[in-house]
Amino acid sequence: MTKRKILVTSALPYANGSIHLGHMVEHIQTDIWVRFQKLRGHECHYCCADDTHGTPIMLAAEKQGLTPEALIEKVHAEHLADFTGFHIGYDNYYSTHSPENKQFSEAIYLALKANGKIESRIINQLFDPEKQMFLPDRFVKGECPKCHAQDQYGDNCEVCGTTYAPTELIKPYSAVSGATPVLKESEHFFFKLGECADFLKEWTAGSTTLADGRVQPHLQPEALNKMKEWLHPDENGEGGLSDWDISRDAPYFGFEIPGAPGKYFYVWLDAPVGYMASFQNLCSRIGIDFNEYFKADSETEMYHFIGKDILYFHALFWPAMLKFSGHRAPTGVFAHGFLTVDGQKMSKSRGTFITARSYLDGGLNPEWMRYYIAAKLNSKIEDIDLNLQDFIARVNSDLVGKYVNIAARAAGFIHKRFDGCLKQVSDSPLLQQLAAHSENIAADYETREYAKALRDIMALADAVNEYVDANKPWELAKQEGADDQLHQVCSELINAFTMLTAYLAPVLPQVAANAARFLNIPAITWAHTQSTLGEHRINKYEHLMQRVEQKQVDDLIEANKQSIQAAETAPAASTYAPVTEQASFDDFMKIDIRVAKVLNCSAVEGSSKLLKFDLDFGFEQRVIFSGIAASYPNPAELNGKMVIAVANFAPRKMAKFGVSEGMILSAATQDGKLRLLDVHEGAQPGDKVG
Ligand code: 2FM
Ligand code: ZN
Repeated sequence: MTKRKILVTSALPYANGSIHLGHMVEHIQTDIWVRFQKLRGHECHYCCADDTHGTPIMLAAEKQGLTPEALIEKVHAEHLADFTGFHIGYDNYYSTHSPENKQFSEAIYLALKANGKIESRIINQLFDPEKQMFLPDRFVKGECPKCHAQDQYGDNCEVCGTTYAPTELIKPYSAVSGATPVLKESEHFFFKLGECADFLKEWTAGSTTLADGRVQPHLQPEALNKMKEWLHPDENGEGGLSDWDISRDAPYFGFEIPGAPGKYFYVWLDAPVGYMASFQNLCSRIGIDFNEYFKADSETEMYHFIGKDILYFHALFWPAMLKFSGHRAPTGVFAHGFLTVDGQKMSKSRGTFITARSYLDGGLNPEWMRYYIAAKLNSKIEDIDLNLQDFIARVNSDLVGKYVNIAARAAGFIHKRFDGCLKQVSDSPLLQQLAAHSENIAADYETREYAKALRDIMALADAVNEYVDANKPWELAKQEGADDQLHQVCSELINAFTMLTAYLAPVLPQVAANAARFLNIPAITWAHTQSTLGEHRINKYEHLMQRVEQKQVDDLIEANKQSIQAAETAPAASTYAPVTEQASFDDFMKIDIRVAKVLNCSAVEGSSKLLKFDLDFGFEQRVIFSGIAASYPNPAELNGKMVIAVANFAPRKMAKFGVSEGMILSAATQDGKLRLLDVHEGAQPGDKVG
């Protein structure tokens, strides 16, 4: 078999937030793939890092009274501990704030510039006069120019979904200081992506033929379709590639651009370069030839595992940056979908925004989650759902009930009756049946069809358990003269367990390591899927995995609810929206506000933001759409409640969802939630508020 040389990455987590199960999906997916390649004997390097630059990290550090350097160092240690706790086996977990990354970012930029791909332009941007800084879109808030919802971000309205420029917001204010921003000119540098279109059209639709003859498409089919939308303008000239603004003005936490004092690389420029930097750091440490992997005509493979939300960066910007700075492009970009919990977006208030730390500190076994996530993953860009009941049932039934029990059932007899020694059983039809699946299961791991691989493995575990039930070792043990048969059956079972362990090893590395100790072999390798142990002495069996208890999962959810409540009650620096200009009593009286009763509140299909309210206004019934879905994950709990609503706004069409006949009032909290207003007992639908 040709030994492949492979570099693999997971997306770099931002250095200002905790690792949660959403991150874990990706890093588990990557880790399984890397472990599989290593088990198969390939040279595979897995590099990651923290993504440390940018305005949010700079401001988060300031808020915590830390320097950005101190914040990113603290977070790096936390992130690495979380990932390691889930057995993510990076070869290097580095930081984008590193000398290697500075050097590569500068070198790539200078090479792009020398190739005529960088252009400077004067742009107008909103500037916070109090804080003396330019404001990224997310740090400008104001009234939506379309639906007039208050406190919307500078890039899109969470209520009506319109996207706009921050300069279009009505009564904009800085989310940093509350000051009214002013427009200010500044010189920015642009990467002329438009000029890379021909290369990108070819690369995105292309593939690489690997050393073993397989053809690896650079993108998944769904990703390629998305790219086509972005790469080809429509008949109105809309869409197509725009040049990319890669510079930001001081103050900014990042790398200063060579020859441009006070200008910094935008975080998204140096983030993917962080893959190279992490790998270079590994190369210097263990003596790998970096150039062999990154030179333009490299024959090595490079894969990036990412979330679907950052495809644009990885499938367009990054290959173009690499190509036009004289490097190789990726062999494949593998995007996955988002994680939902019990069918809904992860929610802090429901406790389903589960941090990696809470899971580990709650004493839950990380391999349960690795197995469950793997059992849901395939090669498509589909969202995957963590159903908590299904999690308990599946782990207990598959891992404990079907797999671990095989060893538990046979090991005792081997020790008690045969001095811990296995018999040669290489001609066993059962074991031959298990071995025959090796290449199919390998192909499924290779193509990231983990769910399929695990279904296949569990079907083999079922066959082994049927064999146990058919041969009943506990009865053989009582039968006179059945010793040889008992030895045969139990040796077959231990060998079957070894094979299943090898099949599961990419997913369950800790179990595989513990099983190797019990089996008295140096390590499990892929070769164990196809070979038997022969006459061989094994060690005493120690339990390899406990069952998941309902209480552990309940406690986990509760812990995540509590940590968010603690964060909510902690005194935090607050940013109040500034009080708007004076209004007269007459102005106020123009707005007709009423009490209304919620007859039915429901989620809106196709919108993650809106809830649909059927309301009784006393004098009539109306429908109002309100952009509060993120704050009220269980809409039905609002049924029967009283709300306060504006009754004399003109009916408004809400995209494709229908017409909204008014506006429900709610308070916008400091942490970005919306809370409906309470109505005390005695008020009736239709009563006027004033
Ligand atoms: O979206 C994110 O979380 C980014 N920090 C991912 C960066 S991936 C790579 F480009 F560095
Ligand atoms: Zn709006």
